[in-house]
Amino acid sequence: MPRPTSAEPGMAAIDRERCAELDAADPLSDMRARFALPQGLIYLDGNSLGALPAAAPARLQRVLRHEWGAGLIASWFEAGWIDQPRGLGEAIAPLIGAAPGEVVVGDSTSVNLFKLLAAALHARPGRRTILTETGNFPTDLYVAQGLSGLVEGCEVRRVAREEITGAVDSDTAVLTLTHVDFRTGFMHDLAALTGAAHAGGALVLWDLSHSVGAVPLDMGGAGVDLAVGCTYKYLNGGPGAPAFAYVRQTHHAELRPGLTGWMGHRAPFDFAEVYAPGAGIAPLLTSTPAVLGMAALEVALEIWRDVDIAQVRAKSVALSELFIALVETKCAGFDLASPRDSAIRGSHVSFRHSQAAALVEGLAERRVIADYRPPDVMRFGLAPLYLRYVDIWDAAARLAEVSAAA
Ligand SMILES: Cc1ncc(COP(=O)(O)O)c(C=O)c1O
Repeated sequence: MPRPTSAEPGMAAIDRERCAELDAADPLSDMRARFALPQGLIYLDGNSLGALPAAAPARLQRVLRHEWGAGLIASWFEAGWIDQPRGLGEAIAPLIGAAPGEVVVGDSTSVNLFKLLAAALHARPGRRTILTETGNFPTDLYVAQGLSGLVEGCEVRRVAREEITGAVDSDTAVLTLTHVDFRTGFMHDLAALTGAAHAGGALVLWDLSHSVGAVPLDMGGAGVDLAVGCTYKYLNGGPGAPAFAYVRQTHHAELRPGLTGWMGHRAPFDFAEVYAPGAGIAPLLTSTPAVLGMAALEVALEIWRDVDIAQVRAKSVALSELFIALVETKCAGFDLASPRDSAIRGSHVSFRHSQAAALVEGLAERRVIADYRPPDVMRFGLAPLYLRYVDIWDAAARLAEVSAAA
């Protein structure tokens, strides 16, 4: 049986009673009541789709009945629909360490990636390489490939993680990476890699999908040029919720994201025939906001207004350490696929197991939701706003039962 080598010795010795004590002392314990979770379910998949905010159904009813049903077209201005992309961007800004006016919400992560990669190529004429990492999230790779096919001479260069810094050269227009790896939870040193890209004259574009709402982020402090991210994971914005995009203020004047839609026009309601970019981050806006999705995200972001991200990170590390220690002492056949060092791990923990698919199914039968990534990875997302220490203890106990029977 593998021995625990957790960074916090003693975690494996914790019993359920002690977990209940940790819950009683948890500064985030009140947050759980702000989510509507199915009774008795332990949900360890919030890194894919976050839980439903308890206030969302009533808010959506109001938007449907009053704003759309009664207000009809007047609601674009009277209910503030037209301002949602910027308003929600302002609510996300503190979570990523951005300044006012640097974040907008809309479209999807993939679409925003396309726009910002195009903007980066435009901002670095003479440089034609999009540098990324082998094993980056598929959509990030596909979007870069698609764009490179449209831009003459553009090439996507994929290198191994340990070669990234040395691969930035005089042809690199942009280095694009996902901050926290979707398979293993490995977390890059965002500030160091941003510095390496800049030292080589390149821009940097971070995909924050697996880090926003899970780890403290500081786009301003690290000097990040561009970033995108999902809002349906740790932010709990809802299935297919609109994504966000960040552009550092110093790049606003040169921002040319290619998808020049009417919402990014200097005067959208003039309906002029020729595009003229709006001020600031406006050119990143393309289309009519998806109001219902925005309304659900708005409710979720109201929860985040009351959250201290440092407490979220501290609890995420504690839950992860506890889970790793319990699995390694109670269950056989599991290899930790995530970094053991919490300083370079996001908020999900992955294990490899030869029966991973069957174990995820077995857990679901016992009311624990985790997820499976072929061929042999089990991922456990530890969302600190609604998970308790006792949930982690119970999930590990049920995993021990399922794996003993496998
Ligand atoms: C790192 C990363 N980028 C992007 C996406 C998804 O992009 P989209 O919202 O365009 O489907 C995901 C979804 O899981 C992701 O993990």
